[in-house]
Parts: sequence; C-alpha cells; structure tokens
Amino acid sequence: MKYQQQQQLLQASPKTWLVTGCAGFIGSNLLETLLKLDQTVVGLDNFATGHRHNLAEVQSLVSAEQWQRFRLIEGDIRDLSACQQAVQGVDYVLHQAALGSVPRSINDPITTNATNISGFLNVLQAAKEACVKGFVYAASSSTYGDHPALPKVEANIGKPLSPYAVTKYVNELYADVFSRCYGFHSTGLRYFNVFGPRQDPNGAYAAVIPKWTAAMIAGDDVAINGDGETSRDFCFVANAVQANILAATTQLGQSEVFNVAVGDRTTLNDLFRSIQQTLSKNGVLYPSSPVYREFRAGDVRHSQADVSKAGQLLGYVPSHTLSAGLDIAMPWYISHN
Ligand SMILES: NC(=O)c1ccc[n+]([C@@H]2O[C@H](COP(=O)([O-])OP(=O)(O)OC[C@H]3O[C@@H](n4cnc5c(N)ncnc54)[C@H](O)[C@@H]3O)[C@@H](O)[C@H]2O)c1
Repeated sequence: MKYQQQQQLLQASPKTWLVTGCAGFIGSNLLETLLKLDQTVVGLDNFATGHRHNLAEVQSLVSAEQWQRFRLIEGDIRDLSACQQAVQGVDYVLHQAALGSVPRSINDPITTNATNISGFLNVLQAAKEACVKGFVYAASSSTYGDHPALPKVEANIGKPLSPYAVTKYVNELYADVFSRCYGFHSTGLRYFNVFGPRQDPNGAYAAVIPKWTAAMIAGDDVAINGDGETSRDFCFVANAVQANILAATTQLGQSEVFNVAVGDRTTLNDLFRSIQQTLSKNGVLYPSSPVYREFRAGDVRHSQADVSKAGQLLGYVPSHTLSAGLDIAMPWYISHN
C-alpha cells in the first residue's frame, strides 16, 4: 500500500512540516502521526478553538526525542508575518487552521471570513514565497452545497449554503489561481465529517459525534436536528491523516482537490444507534431515545463521497470504517469525560 511505503520513506529521510491549527482536533492528530514518524514539525496556532491539553496529550504519546522535534509558534494566521516566520525551512505545509462550523459562520460571518479567507491567503502566500515542496489545505464537503447528486464527485459542485461553505470554496479558488498565476501548486482535501480522539465535545459548535457521545455519557438528552434521515459520510481521523501525508508527498503538477471520506453514508438515526451500541460495549448504557427538533439552517441534507479520485491519484485507501473509528473513539471519550 502506498501509504505504508510513504511512511517508510519519510522515516528513512525525515522532513520538516508546518501544521497550522496543530492544537486542534485534526491538526493534533497530524502532529502525533508525524512525530511518531520522526519528522520535524512546526506548529502554528492561536488557540481560538484548539487546546493546550491536545498538545500535552500528543507529548504523552510520543518519545521525549520525538517531542523535541516539535516547535510551537503561538500566532495568528491573520498575521502575514507570523505565517512567514512559520514556513521558514519547511518542506511541507498542512494547513488546518480555520474556524469550523456552519452555525458559527452564520452567527459571525466576519470572523469566519477573516480567518478562513484572509488567513488562508496569508498561509498560501507565505508558502509560495518560501517555495515549499508541498502545500495541502483543509477544504470541505460543504463546497458541494445544494448540488443534489450522490455520491459527490469533485468536479460537480452546487451553490454554497453557508458563509463557512463560501470560505472553503474561496480557498479552492485561491489555490487554483496561485497555480495559474505563479505556478504554485497545492492540494485541497474536502473532508467529510471527520471524527476521532481529541475532537472537542464542548461548546455550541461541537460536531455531532463528540456532542452526542458526551451527552450519552452524561445521561443528557440527545437532540437530532430534523427527522434523523439526514445522512453523512463519517470519516475517522486516521483516514484524514493518511490523505494529508499522501497529498503532501505526491507531485501532481497542478492544483487539485480530493474528497476525503470513506465512501459510505450513514443516517443520523443509524449514527445514534451505533454510538449507543459502541458505548454499551464499553460499559456505558444510554437507554433513552433521541429528541427530534427543527432542521438546522445551512445544513446539507445528504452527503456521501466518491473517493475514487484520491484512490487513483494519491493511492488513498481509507483504513477505518465508521464502526472501526467509533471503536477507537468511544474509549477515548469515556476516559476523557
Ligand atoms: N472536523 C471536520 O469534520 C472537518 C470537516 C471539513 C473541514 N474541516 C476543516 O479541517 C480543519 C481542521 O478542523 P478541526 O475539526 O480540527 O477544527 P479545530 O477547531 O479542532 O481546529 C482548528 C485549529 O485552528 C486553530 N485556529 C483557528 N483560527 C486560527 C487563527 N486565526 N490562527 C491560528 N490558528 C487558528 C484553532 O485554535 C484550532 O487549533 C479546518 O480547516 C476545518 O474547516 C474539518
């Protein structure tokens, strides 16, 4: 498998990586994997939604020698000079820093725009100036907007349904324009509902899996927006990490975007039962039924990825299904409750 070969190559010839948003959920999982592969990592984060305890956990999971290869820059991607400092001497950039969440962007489009578009442009510009070997950025399945086709194929997108979706689409436009105007190529990864350890269960903008898991562990109500037949392609974080490493190290000769998911579709009703069952296997019983409420503005009704393009061009093969990912994530949520 290409991913295993690539990991061996990196271990034999370590590189320097910049992970923006390294204190967040996906960023800290990237950091953990890269350090375990003996890579050197620069992290850039302003802790807007990320946490120092995520970094402390990564430290506890790697050797002292590996941890010494990590350098944190506490800074803001809205500050070009912080981005320029962060890319110095870097081979590969994995740009994850952004304000996630559709509802957050509806409540505060200005801050989401500043971080996700101006901040993105700063990181892209700094990476171009530094002539990095690879630039990978977190795009989003929200870019499919109102396009009805399933599964989602990269070339066919609809109109954005939220300010967040606009920002993620603009990232793709800038990446494409930098490719045309400057010959600076980058790769966008359209993540589909990533989940796993260190995804924040707290706050108004928590994602569905950590939010429901925390509620079930606490014995609280679990609310489903709509009728529960809304569906998503839930992607365990190890799949996203794999896609990042493959995308950074694969020379494509132009800017591309790829779906990153499993290629499966699960309704919220089925997800509820899966989390309930996985918690039960781990000794946490939640006998209640979900509480149904109104559909949420800006939400896409169905989402499922066609991941064949990433398979063909990157060698991406998702390693974890939803249920395999839940088997890993649930014990983590129970022990971090
Ligand atoms: N989790 C998902 O399902 C999902 C789906 C699609 C796209 N994405 C994208 O993936 C990326 C990572 O998401 P995540 O789930 O890990 O979110 P997260 O909130 O856990 O991580 C984002 C990180 O970026 C940092 N950050 C935010 N604004 C910053 C700024 N101005 N300067 C520096 N750092 C800043 C935060 O402090 C945090 O550590 C984001 O770009 C998000 O839009 C995530």
